[in-house]
Amino acid sequence: MTNKKFYIESYGCAMNFADSEIVNSILMENGNDPVEQPELADIILINTCSIRDNAETKIWNRLKFFRSIKRQNKNLTVGVLGCMAERVRERFLEREKLVDLVVGPDAYRQIPQLLEEVESGQKAVNVILSLEVTYADITPVRLGGNGVSAFVSIMRGCDNMCSFCVVPFTRGRERSRATDSILDEIKQLSDQGYKEVTVLGQNVNSFNDNGTRFADLMYKASLVDPEMRLRFSTSHPKDFPDELLHLINEQKNICNYIHIPAQSGNNEVLRRMRRPYTREQYLALLDNMRNIIPGVTLSTDIITGFCGETEEEHQDTLSLMDTVKFDMAYLFSYSERERTLAHRKFEDDVPADVKQRRLQEIIDVHRAGANERNQAEIGKRHLVLAENFSKRSENQLSGRTDSGKVVIFDKKSFKPGDYLEVVINEANSATLFGEALKLTSIREFEPELVTA
Ligand code: 5AD
Ligand code: SF4
Repeated sequence: MTNKKFYIESYGCAMNFADSEIVNSILMENGNDPVEQPELADIILINTCSIRDNAETKIWNRLKFFRSIKRQNKNLTVGVLGCMAERVRERFLEREKLVDLVVGPDAYRQIPQLLEEVESGQKAVNVILSLEVTYADITPVRLGGNGVSAFVSIMRGCDNMCSFCVVPFTRGRERSRATDSILDEIKQLSDQGYKEVTVLGQNVNSFNDNGTRFADLMYKASLVDPEMRLRFSTSHPKDFPDELLHLINEQKNICNYIHIPAQSGNNEVLRRMRRPYTREQYLALLDNMRNIIPGVTLSTDIITGFCGETEEEHQDTLSLMDTVKFDMAYLFSYSERERTLAHRKFEDDVPADVKQRRLQEIIDVHRAGANERNQAEIGKRHLVLAENFSKRSENQLSGRTDSGKVVIFDKKSFKPGDYLEVVINEANSATLFGEALKLTSIREFEPELVTA
């Protein structure tokens, strides 16, 4: 199938956006061209997320919209990719005839053949998960990005089996991509002028390419281009070695930011969630991070209203948030997912209104802590990579500090891709506002002396 116009829409985590770039590459290799609007496409693909029920609801609504386009254009092919393809499978083809094609995360190489099957009048499905597929040899095509920051996936799947999480079922077993292919991709991005790479995996700390561990990979990656910022996501508290913390502190281009989901602040809930650490161990790990990397920024994920969560257990999460004062946090209500251990073993018994109230309490405690941390940034100078024009005004740029905080500032004569010295003069719980003083670089910039 060639010479078709395709349009991809992506939902969910950064892994999904990175996967869509692989699909761009596969379709373009086969002679198809991307378009920016679904109405102009012969093929519409939607890369989906299953993590919570509301993520899936959004996708069903989008599919109904695509069906309305299909009424105007009988030759249009609509396909579902990603986690929901894996979870919902054939039901997509049966339900309201919305979809012609269903492709799971490990079958993207087969998309051209599957499209041919669709063209010959069949419905096509491949949701086979693999122990090997890493797409290491496919160079992602980054359409519509800012040309400054890129995602590079270094592993696929997840073996953790947290009891609430559908990911092991939608993305399969954990496997690491070959180190050399990762380093080659980072080098190519540097040659193309990119300034920041976020390496991605469901649990990057368990990266293991025939004995090359995550800290080894990050060390090698940091040598590729000293002016290329490196970030990583996501880390699991169960395996965060000191070696990696020292490396983050020593290598100027590895950013001082760690996303380390706690999920809950209560030991019994953590046990039911199958998270293999205690609140005390988690707090000790974060203290260690703040001791070894002065000025490190920490963010977390929290699920509220998990099966059986009592008011006292919820209070422990509030007190964890208050103790740590995370700089950023992603806060969710528990959403039951079929096939997970929690679905099989526990009851989703916290009423929706209680979940909502607890979520709001966590948001409030988080905002107060993050605001306190951000107010402490006022008057400080930061190394900021300008990434985009601000959403609010063409005369402003938005970028991030080394520690991952978003900063908005007047553009002056600067542009996305510049490293700038920025002094912070205003802050709220989510954003810093500052003034760009001058162009600089990772090697030139002298950070403030920070104490933990
Ligand atoms: N319900 C609510 N939140 C969930 N997450 C994962 N599974 C669920 C679920 N069933 C959250 C976790 C995870 C983040 C990516 O999504 O906090 O870290
Ligand atoms: Fe959503 Fe998880 Fe799949 Fe990412 S891996 S798209 S968060 S279900």
